[in-house]
Amino acid sequence: MKIAVAGKGGAGKTTVSGTVARHLSRAGHSVLALDADTNPMLGISLGVGPEETYRLLAVRQGLDDGTIEHQQSVEALVEAFGVDAPDGVRLVVALREARADPGCICCGVTPQQLLGELEGEGRTVVCDMEAGVGAIVRAGKADVVLVVVEPSVKSINVGARVVAAAAEAQTEVIVVANRVRGEADLEAIRAELGDCETAVVPEDPVIARADVEGCAPIDIDSGAPGVSALSVLAERLVAQPAQA
Ligand SMILES: Nc1ncnc2c1ncn2[C@@H]1O[C@H](COP(=O)(O)OP(=O)(O)OP(=O)(O)O)[C@@H](O)[C@H]1O
Ligand SMILES: [Mg+2]
Repeated sequence: MKIAVAGKGGAGKTTVSGTVARHLSRAGHSVLALDADTNPMLGISLGVGPEETYRLLAVRQGLDDGTIEHQQSVEALVEAFGVDAPDGVRLVVALREARADPGCICCGVTPQQLLGELEGEGRTVVCDMEAGVGAIVRAGKADVVLVVVEPSVKSINVGARVVAAAAEAQTEVIVVANRVRGEADLEAIRAELGDCETAVVPEDPVIARADVEGCAPIDIDSGAPGVSALSVLAERLVAQPAQA
Protein backbone atom coordinates (compact mmCIF):
# COMPACT_ATOMS: atom_id res chain seq x y z
CA MET A 1 0.00 0.00 0.00
CA LYS A 2 1.16 3.53 -0.77
CA ILE A 3 0.14 6.43 1.43
CA ALA A 4 0.84 10.02 0.31
CA VAL A 5 0.77 12.76 2.92
CA ALA A 6 -0.10 16.19 1.54
CA GLY A 7 -1.30 19.62 2.59
CA LYS A 8 -0.32 23.22 3.03
CA GLY A 9 3.16 24.19 4.25
CA GLY A 10 3.51 23.71 7.97
CA ALA A 11 0.23 21.81 8.36
CA GLY A 12 1.99 18.84 9.95
CA LYS A 13 2.74 16.53 6.98
CA THR A 14 6.18 15.48 8.21
CA THR A 15 4.96 14.91 11.77
CA VAL A 16 2.07 12.78 10.49
CA SER A 17 4.28 10.86 8.02
CA GLY A 18 7.00 10.06 10.54
CA THR A 19 4.68 9.11 13.37
CA VAL A 20 2.31 7.01 11.25
CA ALA A 21 5.34 5.22 9.74
CA ARG A 22 6.69 4.40 13.22
CA HIS A 23 3.32 3.17 14.46
CA LEU A 24 2.86 0.96 11.38
CA SER A 25 6.30 -0.52 11.83
CA ARG A 26 5.66 -1.16 15.53
CA ALA A 27 2.51 -3.00 14.50
CA GLY A 28 4.66 -5.36 12.41
CA HIS A 29 4.36 -3.86 8.93
CA SER A 30 7.29 -3.47 6.60
CA VAL A 31 7.49 0.31 6.17
CA LEU A 32 9.36 2.43 3.68
CA ALA A 33 9.27 6.15 4.45
CA LEU A 34 9.86 8.25 1.36
CA ASP A 35 10.80 11.88 1.81
CA ALA A 36 9.62 13.64 -1.35
CA ASP A 37 10.09 17.17 -0.04
CA THR A 38 12.85 19.32 -1.58
CA ASN A 39 13.60 20.31 1.99
CA PRO A 40 13.71 16.78 3.43
CA MET A 41 13.19 16.67 7.18
CA LEU A 42 11.32 13.39 7.56
CA GLY A 43 14.37 11.84 9.23
CA ILE A 44 13.91 14.16 12.20
CA SER A 45 10.26 13.23 12.78
CA LEU A 46 11.12 9.55 12.28
CA GLY A 47 13.78 9.75 14.95
CA VAL A 48 17.03 9.23 13.04
CA GLY A 49 18.31 12.57 14.35
CA PRO A 50 19.52 15.70 12.57
CA GLU A 51 22.98 14.31 11.72
CA GLU A 52 21.69 11.29 9.78
CA THR A 53 18.99 13.42 8.19
CA TYR A 54 21.59 15.85 6.86
CA ARG A 55 23.87 13.00 5.80
CA LEU A 56 21.09 11.68 3.55
CA LEU A 57 20.89 15.13 2.00
CA ALA A 58 24.59 14.98 1.24
CA VAL A 59 23.97 11.97 -1.03
CA ARG A 60 22.73 14.40 -3.65
CA GLN A 61 25.98 16.30 -3.55
CA GLY A 62 28.03 13.09 -3.63
CA LEU A 63 26.23 11.90 -6.76
CA ASP A 64 26.83 15.26 -8.41
CA ASP A 65 30.54 15.36 -7.67
CA GLY A 66 31.09 11.66 -8.40
CA THR A 67 32.10 10.56 -4.90
CA ILE A 68 29.05 8.30 -4.55
CA GLU A 69 28.30 5.47 -6.95
CA HIS A 70 25.10 5.82 -8.95
CA GLN A 71 22.39 3.16 -8.74
CA GLN A 72 20.42 1.73 -11.63
CA SER A 73 17.20 0.57 -10.04
CA VAL A 74 14.72 1.87 -7.51
CA GLU A 75 15.33 -1.05 -5.15
CA ALA A 76 19.11 -0.57 -5.38
CA LEU A 77 18.57 3.07 -4.56
CA VAL A 78 16.54 2.17 -1.47
CA GLU A 79 19.32 -0.19 -0.42
CA ALA A 80 22.25 2.13 -1.12
CA PHE A 81 20.89 5.53 -0.17
CA GLY A 82 18.39 4.70 2.54
CA VAL A 83 18.91 4.65 6.27
CA ASP A 84 17.36 2.48 8.98
CA ALA A 85 15.16 4.46 11.30
CA PRO A 86 13.93 3.18 14.69
CA ASP A 87 11.38 0.35 14.82
CA GLY A 88 12.68 -0.95 11.46
CA VAL A 89 11.40 1.82 9.20
CA ARG A 90 13.56 2.30 6.10
CA LEU A 91 13.93 5.97 5.15
CA VAL A 92 14.74 7.10 1.62
CA VAL A 93 15.06 10.64 0.35
CA ALA A 94 13.91 11.31 -3.21
CA LEU A 95 16.89 12.91 -4.85
CA ARG A 96 15.73 15.04 -7.71
CA GLU A 97 13.21 17.41 -9.10
CA ALA A 98 12.19 16.97 -12.75
CA ARG A 99 14.89 18.07 -15.16
CA ALA A 100 15.42 18.01 -18.90
CA ASP A 101 18.04 15.23 -18.87
CA PRO A 102 16.72 12.60 -16.48
CA GLY A 103 20.04 10.66 -16.39
CA CYS A 104 20.08 7.44 -14.39
CA ILE A 105 17.36 6.31 -12.02
CA CYS A 106 18.96 7.67 -8.86
CA CYS A 107 19.61 11.12 -10.31
CA GLY A 108 16.75 11.57 -12.68
CA VAL A 109 13.75 10.07 -10.96
CA THR A 110 11.30 12.64 -9.62
CA PRO A 111 9.64 12.02 -6.26
CA GLN A 112 6.43 11.26 -8.11
CA GLN A 113 8.13 8.69 -10.38
CA LEU A 114 9.84 7.16 -7.40
CA LEU A 115 6.54 6.76 -5.58
CA GLY A 116 5.13 5.18 -8.72
CA GLU A 117 7.99 2.75 -9.18
CA LEU A 118 8.42 1.64 -5.59
CA GLU A 119 6.92 -1.75 -4.99
CA GLY A 120 3.89 -1.30 -2.72
CA GLU A 121 3.20 -5.01 -2.55
CA GLY A 122 4.13 -6.54 0.80
CA ARG A 123 5.12 -3.25 2.35
CA THR A 124 3.68 0.10 3.24
CA VAL A 125 5.16 3.19 1.62
CA VAL A 126 4.53 6.45 3.49
CA CYS A 127 5.41 9.43 1.31
CA ASP A 128 5.89 12.88 2.83
CA MET A 129 5.01 15.19 -0.06
CA GLU A 130 6.08 18.70 -0.82
CA ALA A 131 3.68 21.41 0.41
CA GLY A 132 0.80 22.56 -1.74
CA VAL A 133 -1.58 21.16 -4.32
CA GLY A 134 0.88 20.65 -7.20
CA ALA A 135 2.70 17.71 -5.63
CA ILE A 136 -0.48 15.67 -5.32
CA VAL A 137 -1.71 16.61 -8.79
CA ARG A 138 1.52 15.21 -10.22
CA ALA A 139 1.65 12.18 -7.91
CA GLY A 140 -1.42 10.16 -8.80
CA LYS A 141 0.26 6.96 -7.61
CA ALA A 142 -0.91 6.62 -4.05
CA ASP A 143 -3.66 4.29 -2.82
CA VAL A 144 -4.66 6.77 -0.16
CA VAL A 145 -3.89 10.44 0.41
CA LEU A 146 -3.75 11.85 3.93
CA VAL A 147 -4.69 15.50 3.59
CA VAL A 148 -3.26 17.27 6.62
CA VAL A 149 -5.17 20.41 7.57
CA GLU A 150 -4.72 22.88 10.39
CA PRO A 151 -7.69 24.88 11.63
CA SER A 152 -6.82 27.96 9.59
CA VAL A 153 -8.56 29.44 6.56
CA LYS A 154 -5.44 29.10 4.40
CA SER A 155 -4.68 25.53 5.41
CA ILE A 156 -8.28 24.46 4.92
CA ASN A 157 -8.33 26.10 1.48
CA VAL A 158 -5.24 24.19 0.34
CA GLY A 159 -6.64 21.03 1.92
CA ALA A 160 -9.88 21.36 -0.02
CA ARG A 161 -7.96 21.69 -3.28
CA VAL A 162 -5.80 18.67 -2.45
CA VAL A 163 -8.99 16.70 -1.73
CA ALA A 164 -10.40 17.76 -5.12
CA ALA A 165 -7.18 16.76 -6.91
CA ALA A 166 -7.11 13.38 -5.18
CA ALA A 167 -10.78 12.83 -5.98
CA GLU A 168 -10.08 13.58 -9.63
CA ALA A 169 -7.35 10.92 -9.57
CA GLN A 170 -9.92 8.61 -7.89
CA THR A 171 -7.65 8.20 -4.90
CA GLU A 172 -9.07 7.53 -1.47
CA VAL A 173 -8.76 10.49 0.91
CA ILE A 174 -8.58 10.81 4.68
CA VAL A 175 -8.48 14.33 6.08
CA VAL A 176 -6.18 14.69 9.08
CA ALA A 177 -7.55 17.53 11.19
CA ASN A 178 -4.34 18.50 12.96
CA ARG A 179 -3.61 20.81 15.88
CA VAL A 180 -7.24 20.75 16.96
CA ARG A 181 -7.71 22.66 20.23
CA GLY A 182 -11.45 22.27 20.59
CA GLU A 183 -14.82 21.88 18.97
CA ALA A 184 -14.62 25.23 17.14
CA ASP A 185 -11.40 24.13 15.37
CA LEU A 186 -12.99 20.89 14.26
CA GLU A 187 -16.14 22.69 13.12
CA ALA A 188 -14.07 25.05 10.96
CA ILE A 189 -12.49 22.06 9.21
CA ARG A 190 -15.74 20.09 8.94
CA ALA A 191 -17.55 23.11 7.45
CA GLU A 192 -15.33 22.81 4.36
CA LEU A 193 -14.29 19.17 4.40
CA GLY A 194 -17.16 17.52 6.25
CA ASP A 195 -17.85 15.06 3.43
CA CYS A 196 -14.47 13.39 3.91
CA GLU A 197 -13.50 10.76 6.42
CA THR A 198 -11.58 12.65 9.11
CA ALA A 199 -8.95 11.69 11.67
CA VAL A 200 -8.58 14.20 14.49
CA VAL A 201 -5.15 14.98 15.97
CA PRO A 202 -5.15 17.38 18.90
CA GLU A 203 -2.65 20.16 19.53
CA ASP A 204 0.02 18.34 21.51
CA PRO A 205 2.91 19.94 23.41
CA VAL A 206 4.90 16.70 23.04
CA ILE A 207 4.84 17.09 19.24
CA ALA A 208 5.95 20.71 19.52
CA ARG A 209 8.73 19.74 21.93
CA ALA A 210 9.99 16.98 19.65
CA ASP A 211 10.47 19.55 16.91
CA VAL A 212 12.46 21.79 19.23
CA GLU A 213 14.66 18.87 20.27
CA GLY A 214 15.03 17.38 16.79
CA CYS A 215 13.58 14.02 17.76
CA ALA A 216 10.49 11.91 17.07
CA PRO A 217 7.37 12.66 19.15
CA ILE A 218 6.83 8.90 19.58
CA ASP A 219 10.22 8.65 21.29
CA ILE A 220 9.26 11.28 23.88
CA ASP A 221 5.86 9.84 24.76
CA SER A 222 4.02 7.31 22.62
CA GLY A 223 0.93 7.85 24.77
CA ALA A 224 0.74 11.63 24.25
CA PRO A 225 -2.64 12.65 22.84
CA GLY A 226 -1.43 13.65 19.37
CA VAL A 227 0.90 10.67 19.09
CA SER A 228 -1.78 8.17 20.07
CA ALA A 229 -4.29 9.79 17.70
CA LEU A 230 -1.81 8.99 14.94
CA SER A 231 -1.65 5.41 16.18
CA VAL A 232 -5.41 5.14 15.68
CA LEU A 233 -4.96 6.55 12.16
CA ALA A 234 -2.20 4.01 11.43
CA GLU A 235 -4.49 1.17 12.56
CA ARG A 236 -7.27 2.49 10.37
CA LEU A 237 -4.98 2.61 7.34
CA VAL A 238 -4.06 -1.03 7.55
CA ALA A 239 -7.41 -2.28 8.79
CA GLN A 240 -9.02 -1.34 5.50
CA PRO A 241 -6.27 -1.37 2.92
CA ALA A 242 -7.11 0.76 -0.08
CA GLN A 243 -7.43 -1.03 -3.41
CA ALA A 244 -4.51 -0.41 -5.73
N1 LIG B 1 -0.56 18.16 16.61
C1 LIG B 1 0.43 19.04 16.80
N2 LIG B 1 0.60 19.64 18.01
C2 LIG B 1 1.58 20.53 18.21
N3 LIG B 1 2.46 20.91 17.27
C3 LIG B 1 2.34 20.37 16.05
C4 LIG B 1 1.33 19.40 15.76
N4 LIG B 1 1.48 19.02 14.45
C5 LIG B 1 2.53 19.71 13.97
N5 LIG B 1 3.05 20.52 14.92
C6 LIG B 1 4.20 21.44 14.78
O1 LIG B 1 3.98 22.22 13.61
C7 LIG B 1 5.21 22.46 12.95
C8 LIG B 1 5.09 22.02 11.50
O2 LIG B 1 4.94 20.61 11.47
P1 LIG B 1 5.56 19.75 10.27
O3 LIG B 1 7.00 20.07 10.07
O4 LIG B 1 5.18 18.35 10.50
O5 LIG B 1 4.72 20.38 9.07
P2 LIG B 1 4.92 20.18 7.49
O6 LIG B 1 3.57 20.24 6.90
O7 LIG B 1 5.74 18.98 7.23
O8 LIG B 1 5.75 21.48 7.13
P3 LIG B 1 6.52 21.78 5.73
O9 LIG B 1 5.46 22.20 4.76
O10 LIG B 1 7.44 22.91 6.10
O11 LIG B 1 7.23 20.53 5.32
C9 LIG B 1 6.28 21.73 13.73
O12 LIG B 1 6.92 22.62 14.62
C10 LIG B 1 5.48 20.68 14.50
O13 LIG B 1 6.11 20.32 15.71
MG1 LIG C 1 7.47 18.76 6.10
